[in-house]
Amino acid sequence: MNVADSEVVASILSESGFYPSAEADNADLILINTCSIRENAEQRIWNRLKALRHLKKKNKRLKVGLIGCMAERLREKILEAEQLVDFIAGPDAYRELPFLIAEAESGHKAVNVLLSREETYSDISPVRIAADGVSAFVSITRGCNNMCSYCVVPYVRGKERSRDPASVLREVRELAEAGYREVTLLGQNVDSYNWISDGSASSFPWLIEQVARVSSLLRVRFSTSHPKDISDALLRTIARYDNICKHIHLPAQSGSSRILKLMNRGYDREGYMARIEAIRSIIPGCAISTDMIAGFCTETDEDHNASLSLMEWAGFDFAYMFRYSERPGTGAARKLKDDVPENVKNARLNDIISLQNKLSAKSKKVEIGKVFEVLIEGFSKRSDKFLTGRTSHNKVVVFPKEDKTSGEYVRVMIEKCTPATLIGKII
Ligand code: 5AD
Ligand code: SF4
Repeated sequence: MNVADSEVVASILSESGFYPSAEADNADLILINTCSIRENAEQRIWNRLKALRHLKKKNKRLKVGLIGCMAERLREKILEAEQLVDFIAGPDAYRELPFLIAEAESGHKAVNVLLSREETYSDISPVRIAADGVSAFVSITRGCNNMCSYCVVPYVRGKERSRDPASVLREVRELAEAGYREVTLLGQNVDSYNWISDGSASSFPWLIEQVARVSSLLRVRFSTSHPKDISDALLRTIARYDNICKHIHLPAQSGSSRILKLMNRGYDREGYMARIEAIRSIIPGCAISTDMIAGFCTETDEDHNASLSLMEWAGFDFAYMFRYSERPGTGAARKLKDDVPENVKNARLNDIISLQNKLSAKSKKVEIGKVFEVLIEGFSKRSDKFLTGRTSHNKVVVFPKEDKTSGEYVRVMIEKCTPATLIGKII
């Protein structure tokens, strides 16, 4: 999400004559794109800001701006506590950046953190700053209407808005024409994509099908799906198109129905399992990943064991795993007690991580001896004699380069694996 936002910001600023600098040391403008979702993400930003102090001393012209969710949540604290920040723009205020920068240059602290009901930046063509020329993110919704009780997103990014499908498709076509081979459609809950025009509604299954039809050479991924909203219609569309990747990120958060209710997730353990079964029957072999939170308010050992048993049952291929951190202003912060001691949270998170390590290793091992189509993304981290890419199931593969290069599709036979990577050779 943040990469996609940074690319919108880069586009807006390039229109005003700014261009990217490779080194923070040479820059006259530094923007820090922030995330409020977990406490440690915020802590990292405070540390980063402190680290910029010496650059401000060296370059008197340097302006530092804070953008994104944390800007929205902590504007007063940031401006008061840290003389370092010259201006602040919340996630719906990026069009105002040239104005905010001009204000800051004339010596005024400038702030815009207003949230919008309409802003989707649909007319802005993102500048691909983080891109490898192969794979790009395309935002299809902003904000979230779900109100999971632990989550700050609805407060800092506002109500959900779907982006005009015509602009999504234009962006995807431009990427395909520029040689990109993979797009990831992004939204907090892609399944609730809903564009209404002339009284008729366009849904996510419709949109992803249009995107898949842009080019059979273009892989399509999407994130994040919500267990309460992912429909059989979507699953059937994924099954129908070879170029829609067979991987679904479907955060469970917990395996205990009692905790899921307190989290206000809108499904229970059985409901989640039913969606996994639907995926397995409509898209056989589909990879499934999850997010898990350890130590949510009132979580008992029994609830925790329910999370572990759900993970084991689902056999997740991959997981993002977090220790619950209370976010001010959320439903849980207002109504529930953050009563699981830190040491218990840590121990439970460790259980979850060790189980997932086992499941991830198993998800790699079963691929040995099989052949996959891999989209090459670049050189492997360790050596430029090896290339890296991913399978449709989102598993990372490393293999000797031969005469191949980024953006090409190759067939790779898997010979062995490490816990995180498949290793093979082109056939
Ligand atoms: N504490 C811990 N994890 C959280 N997440 C969101 N809010 C919190 C929180 N307060 C996790 C959820 C979500 C992912 C993006 O971050 O698992 O799916
Ligand atoms: Fe947060 Fe829930 Fe929305 Fe995800 S679906 S962004 S967890 S409120």
